[in-house]
Amino acid sequence: MSEVQGSTRARTAGLLKEPPATGPTGRPLTEFPEPEALAEHGPARIIAMVNQKGGVGKTTSTINLAAALAEYGRKVLLVDFDPQGALSAGFGIQPHDLDVTVYNVLMDRNTEVADALIATDVPGVDLLPANIDLSAAEVQLVNEVAREQVLAMSLRKVADDYDVILIDCQPSLGLLTVNALTAAHGVIIPLTAEFFALRAVALLVETIEKVQDRLNPNLTIDGVLATMYDARTLHGREVLGRLLEAFGDRVFETVIKRTIKFADANVAAEPITSYAANHPGAEAYRTLARELISRGGAP
Ligand SMILES: Nc1ncnc2c1ncn2[C@@H]1O[C@H](COP(=O)(O)OP(=O)(O)OP(=O)(O)O)[C@@H](O)[C@H]1O
Ligand SMILES: [Mg+2]
Repeated sequence: MSEVQGSTRARTAGLLKEPPATGPTGRPLTEFPEPEALAEHGPARIIAMVNQKGGVGKTTSTINLAAALAEYGRKVLLVDFDPQGALSAGFGIQPHDLDVTVYNVLMDRNTEVADALIATDVPGVDLLPANIDLSAAEVQLVNEVAREQVLAMSLRKVADDYDVILIDCQPSLGLLTVNALTAAHGVIIPLTAEFFALRAVALLVETIEKVQDRLNPNLTIDGVLATMYDARTLHGREVLGRLLEAFGDRVFETVIKRTIKFADANVAAEPITSYAANHPGAEAYRTLARELISRGGAP
C-alpha cells in the first residue's frame, strides 16, 4: 500500500469516528464517574453558595446539590443563611414557627448547632434553619469580637459529623455573607446565563479576594454554575462563552437548564431529585454532584 493510500485511509477512519460530544460550555463532555462509597464520614468540606444578585438559583442549587450528594451516600448539613428562610421552606419547614434557628447559634453562646438542627425528609440531609430573626444578626454582629468568624466557630463543632456543609447565602455581600466566606473552604457561584448577571460577579470576586487576603487565605472558588440556561437562544450561548473567558475551567461543565419543574418541586417542598427523579433537571444536579466530587470539591 502506498503512503498516500495509507494516509487517505487514516483520514477516512478519522471521519468515520464520532467527534467527541461537546457540552453547552463548548468543552468535550466528561463522563464523571459514579463516586465511591465513603468508608467513614467527616470532616466536612464547607461550601458557600454565594451571589449578591437575587434569584440566580442559589437556594435551588443548594437543595438539589445536597439531595444529589446524599444519594451518593454523602452526609450533608445545610445552613440557611438567609433571613427569608427560603431554604428551610424548601424542605417544608415553616421558618417563622421556629424558636431556635441559626440566629440563636450565632448570637447565644449557650446554643449549639445541635440545638437548632432539623433532620429533613431527605435521608442524609440535615438543616440548620433560619428565619427573619437572622436579619438582626447582621447588625448585632458588628459589635462582636471576631465578628467575621462567628459562623466558622459554630460549625467547627459539627464538621466531623458531615461530609459536606452547604451554606445558602442571602443576596448581599454584608457581614453574614462574609461570615459564610470565612467559614468556607470553597465557593460555588450560581449565575443565570444572562449578560446583566455577569456584572455582579466582578464585585463578588473582589469580595472573595478580600476575604482571602484578610480572613481565610485557603478559600477557593470551586466553580461557577450557570443556571436557568436556555440553549435555544444565542444570548445564553454568548454568556456562557464570556463566562468561560473570565473563569476558564472554573465554570462547571454541568449547566442547569431552565425548567418550570424546579418551581413545581419547590411548591411541593421537595428536591427535584425525588419530586421528579428522572427529569433532566434532577439528572443535572446529580451530574453536578459527580463533577464536584471528581474535582475534589467534595469527598
Ligand atoms: N433552572 C431553573 N429553571 C427555572 N427556574 C428556576 C431554576 N432554578 C431556580 N429557578 C426558580 O427561580 C427562582 C429563584 O431561584 P432561587 O430562589 O433558587 O434563587 P436565589 O438565588 O436563591 O434567590 P435569592 O437571591 O432571592 O435567595 C425560584 O422561583 C426558582 O424556583
Ligand atoms: Mg435564596
